[in-house]
Amino acid sequence: MEAAAVRRAEDGALSGSVPPTDDQTHVSNSDAPWDEFDADAYWEKNYSTLRDDDEEILRRITAYFAANPPAGERPGLHTRLWRRLTRRAAPPTALGLDVGPGTNLYPALAMLPYCRRITLWEYSATNVRWLRNELRSFRSTWDVFWGQATGIRRSSGGDTRGLDPRPALARRVDVRQASIFDLPKSRFDVGTMFFVAESLTSDRSEFERATRAFVESLRPGAPFAAAFMEGSVGYQVGACHFPAVPVTIGQVKEFLTGLTPDLELHQVFSEKPLREGYHGTMILALGRASGKPLETPPGTVVATHEDAAAAAAT
Ligand SMILES: C[S@@+](CC[C@H](N)C(=O)[O-])C[C@H]1O[C@@H](n2cnc3c(N)ncnc32)[C@H](O)[C@@H]1O
Repeated sequence: MEAAAVRRAEDGALSGSVPPTDDQTHVSNSDAPWDEFDADAYWEKNYSTLRDDDEEILRRITAYFAANPPAGERPGLHTRLWRRLTRRAAPPTALGLDVGPGTNLYPALAMLPYCRRITLWEYSATNVRWLRNELRSFRSTWDVFWGQATGIRRSSGGDTRGLDPRPALARRVDVRQASIFDLPKSRFDVGTMFFVAESLTSDRSEFERATRAFVESLRPGAPFAAAFMEGSVGYQVGACHFPAVPVTIGQVKEFLTGLTPDLELHQVFSEKPLREGYHGTMILALGRASGKPLETPPGTVVATHEDAAAAAAT
């Protein structure tokens, strides 16, 4: 998670850089010390500045949501009349979800223009505390994330004038302490899940259950963005080690293709990986929930290692 995996960990005890010891190889979600997750250390390491890889992800998800806006509720008579009389954009109506937000606010910022409510569905008590406190009036470092998202939205034809993200986030976001495995079905109109399903367990079947629970919590047709660390074997945050399932883009593609009719996959690289020789690749999946498993053509792999290497060489 530093350029991907390395960066989200303290001092690189992450993806591929440090092999797990025997007793770290099988850690289920309930075994890991989530309530000791060091929220401040995680924020400092990962989100105190906007990194190149997060900038690319933010750009892609903002453009994707602008091109595939969530449906939300059907506007009622009053809203339709108000819109016609004032000629102003309707207030947002969608219900948004970010699962396992940790100390990352940019998925919520990307969904904010569409959502009347956003639920941050977080398991760890320390992260829940950190989020509730941060949301009262988020620190100025998030302004650069919002600025990026706003610029991209404008260039995609969207408008965020009149939307002040600080009070809007404070008003519209609920932080709920709960597990991904207890998400309701078909509830949300737009959703994000960043570095969660593969970073909460070392058990592959739990990774798959978590990913399925996320997609199935969305209404049919709801757009989503999900990011995964490629090849992570676990990570250190503060004093604690956390488990991970090392996934490949092929596995993410195979699994998600059954859950979304129009999967787009991107590999995201950092120009500044912390460790020599470590690529630190993230996988970004964009799609719309099908509501039920579909038999569809395989998803599209938009960028590969080879593409990135070729681009870097030019
Ligand atoms: C690697 S962090 C990712 C944090 C954040 N989404 C980001 O983009 O940096 C993994 C997150 O998953 C959360 N998590 C772990 N188990 C969970 C569960 N069963 N349900 C929901 N979230 C969980 C952790 O508390 C942590 O916030």
